[in-house]
Amino acid sequence: MGDKRALITGITGQDGAYLSKLLLSKGYKVYGARRRSSNASMSRLQELNINNEIEFVDLELTEISNVFRVIDKLRPSELYNLGGQSFVSTSWDQPLYTSDTNAMGVTRLLEALRAYSVGTRFYQASTSEMFGKARTVPQNEQTPFYPRSPYGVAKLYGHWITVNYRESFGMHATSGILFNHESPLRGIEFVTRKITLALARIAHQQLDVLELGNLDSKRDWGYAEDYVKGIWLMLQQESPSDYVLATGKSHSVGEFVEAACRALGINVEWEGEGQNSRALDKRTGKIIVKVNPKYYRPAEVDSLVGDASVARSELGWEPSVDFAKLVAMMVKADFDRVKRGIIPF
Ligand code: NAP
Ligand code: GDD
Repeated sequence: MGDKRALITGITGQDGAYLSKLLLSKGYKVYGARRRSSNASMSRLQELNINNEIEFVDLELTEISNVFRVIDKLRPSELYNLGGQSFVSTSWDQPLYTSDTNAMGVTRLLEALRAYSVGTRFYQASTSEMFGKARTVPQNEQTPFYPRSPYGVAKLYGHWITVNYRESFGMHATSGILFNHESPLRGIEFVTRKITLALARIAHQQLDVLELGNLDSKRDWGYAEDYVKGIWLMLQQESPSDYVLATGKSHSVGEFVEAACRALGINVEWEGEGQNSRALDKRTGKIIVKVNPKYYRPAEVDSLVGDASVARSELGWEPSVDFAKLVAMMVKADFDRVKRGIIPF
């Protein structure tokens, strides 16, 4: 494709940062859509040293006039919709805002494209949360959906409206059903980064105990930089479709804790069950991880594991970072940050 101009919503987030880096390396002009804030954080883009290469535009997904003006002005060749209220827990406190952004926000973008730029290739950031109380193991593009949170329900709307505009108007609209992907740029509210940052602080004697919710819940955790390559590949296909990206391997939150401790050279031993579970540092005998039920969710997604064989065969996509390597990479980044006294995000 000759015209390589991409608009990315959610530019300040984890995936926005890695996708920008990838597209810039491929010679794209990157427009970064950010929402107005008194405290706009460019720290992920700064960490990757690409903030000066992006042209920023103000875009709030809940504001239709804003969305229409931006699309009319830019008419990009590719639009990646990564913007959204992405924290599942918050979606029970802010279900309407979550729907407005994650569901209606998608329709606003699609409507704007339909009006001004119907040839733009569109990517929607769909999620394995849509499988929720999963009906089959592993989950693939054919698995029925059963979302378990306002976040999952809103994302399911975003998924289907993308499929619908593709089928109704012939738009090149693709939905990527991505399983959890993490990195040193992950937000600290998500469990992986919460664990690596807290354990790094414990290792530096800056914190005594890490409190978590459900230790038994299982996720298919991959590396974000691998996943943005898959996202880009999806939009390079002649025909739009839906694709699952996943590693095919699942681990519990407790196993993530153990792997992170291993990477830090901490030997842990578990005691108790359920709400009374705790992990002790075998060397010191101190409790370093315990359960606080305030982190439990009103409805849980107990276990997710994806089957990415369609992405493998049609896109040639493969994850390159396994679970142990991912955990070690995140632990190292947080250990070094705590040592330097700088936690940028
Ligand atoms: P993230 O780090 O939380 O980033 C979310 C981005 O969306 C931020 O740039 C945020 O801006 C922006 N945003 C939020 N509300 C907005 C609004 N109303 N208008 C415009 N922008 C808004 O999330 P991520 O991990 O990069 O994920 C990217 C997308 O993929 C999200 O839609 C997420 O739901 C989805 N997804 C993620 C995963 C995963 O495991 N990471 C898996 C499946 C799907 P601020 O910086 O201003 O808050
Ligand atoms: N955040 C958090 N904090 N989660 C905890 C905690 C805790 O203290 N303790 C246990 N968990 C459990 C949650 O109950 C959940 O089962 C699991 O850890 C993962 O939680 P998160 O890391 O918050 O991620 P998520 O799976 O809910 O959502 C992420 O992945 C989705 C893809 O499946 C987000 O990135 C979503 O935006 C994304 O769509």
